[in-house]
Amino acid sequence: MTAKKIIEQTCGLYRVDLSSVKKIAAEFNGELDRALAGEKSSLQIIPSFLSAPSGQEKGRYIAVDFGGSNLRVMLVELRGQGCYEIIKLVSQPLKDPQGRYDYTTADTSGHEVFAFVADLVSEIWAEASSCKLGLTFSYPMLQNSICSARLLRWTKELKPRQTEGRDIGQMLSKALIDIGIDIKPAAIINDTVGVFMAGCYHDSAVCAGSICGTGYNNCLLEPGRMTASEQVMIVNTEAGNFSSLPFNYYDQILDQATDDPGQQKMEKMVSGKYLGELMRITLRDLGEKGYLPGYDRSERIWNQPYSLPTEVLSWLQSKRSEEIEQFAYWIEVNGFYTNQDGLAWLNLISAAILERAMILIAATYTAILERNRQLNNEKQVIAVDGALFKYMPGFLTGIESILRSELPDRSVALMYTSDGSNVGAAVAAAMTER
Ligand code: GLC
Repeated sequence: MTAKKIIEQTCGLYRVDLSSVKKIAAEFNGELDRALAGEKSSLQIIPSFLSAPSGQEKGRYIAVDFGGSNLRVMLVELRGQGCYEIIKLVSQPLKDPQGRYDYTTADTSGHEVFAFVADLVSEIWAEASSCKLGLTFSYPMLQNSICSARLLRWTKELKPRQTEGRDIGQMLSKALIDIGIDIKPAAIINDTVGVFMAGCYHDSAVCAGSICGTGYNNCLLEPGRMTASEQVMIVNTEAGNFSSLPFNYYDQILDQATDDPGQQKMEKMVSGKYLGELMRITLRDLGEKGYLPGYDRSERIWNQPYSLPTEVLSWLQSKRSEEIEQFAYWIEVNGFYTNQDGLAWLNLISAAILERAMILIAATYTAILERNRQLNNEKQVIAVDGALFKYMPGFLTGIESILRSELPDRSVALMYTSDGSNVGAAVAAAMTER
């Protein structure tokens, strides 16, 4: 078989037909219904104990963002009508690039990781000691109230020990008290709830929030069936765990090598943590079969998991000279001296991986928008954030155009909302003052 045929077949493994969007959306909604009914489901309906903000929330708040590769603490001033200012921001990676520390592994205890968070809070404390604190914590957690939540499990390959099942707010306030800071989180939210809050603070048409960065997830408005009230509440679905999706050969290889095989299936097909790795595994297989010009199995990139960052896919998709140069540099540093054919294969494979991600995400958004139809919104906006939306050329617009063709009779839009994890946490903390 010719190399061209092989590449076509490989790309075919990633093909999801646009005609299956409705079917996937129906399965997603079925899983949500089962979660609501308390039946077995790969999705969850985790109450946030928050409804949509009014947009009038004001004041200064401490926002802590714990969920991506960087830990961030900010002092945020909300000014109402969607306006805000980040007065101060301090940030530290959870894993030091120079290798001096790493809070992501099982060698770290929960106590140590929260002490690290507390130290960062202390850096802004002098200016913030009279402010309430909102914590964005972007891992599956079960909330009992707006300010108390238990960690269900880690995702995104994080694994500090002595943490699962424990109260996140208590772990943080204990670490703060240990360094003389007497404050408890007023609100604990998932990052999708944060992006919802920040988006809705600005535009009341927001009916859902979604992140596609290191991980993937979304939240939506659902009548508050888990409480006595019928109030509409924002709920976190942990959509990254959606499992009614076909895994191909490469998905299986990737999944088997993760910390949580069989879990976070959708996340492993669409998010920034995994897309680069999927591409690496696919290319390595082609290289081993002799179809990738310039492949040298002794190079580090083919032996070291996660050594092909998802950024590489965005450089490949970009037409800007800066990114094309970054890609050329990356190729050289990694000793991957391929030729024109090899580059063409890389382009085709990255496009296939990304297109599948966009179609799957669009299918879950279609499900949410269908579900939200009952809420009678004229215009429906999903607030989105995360590196894929921010940096991947054509990602946001590609998903939006699938949505518009799936739901032609509706006014739907995606709104890129940066600062969701900090402004959102501040707005949530402000809502506790009502
Ligand atoms: C993972 C987490 C989820 C979070 C998402 C985006 O899927 O489990 O809680 O919202 O990543 O950061």
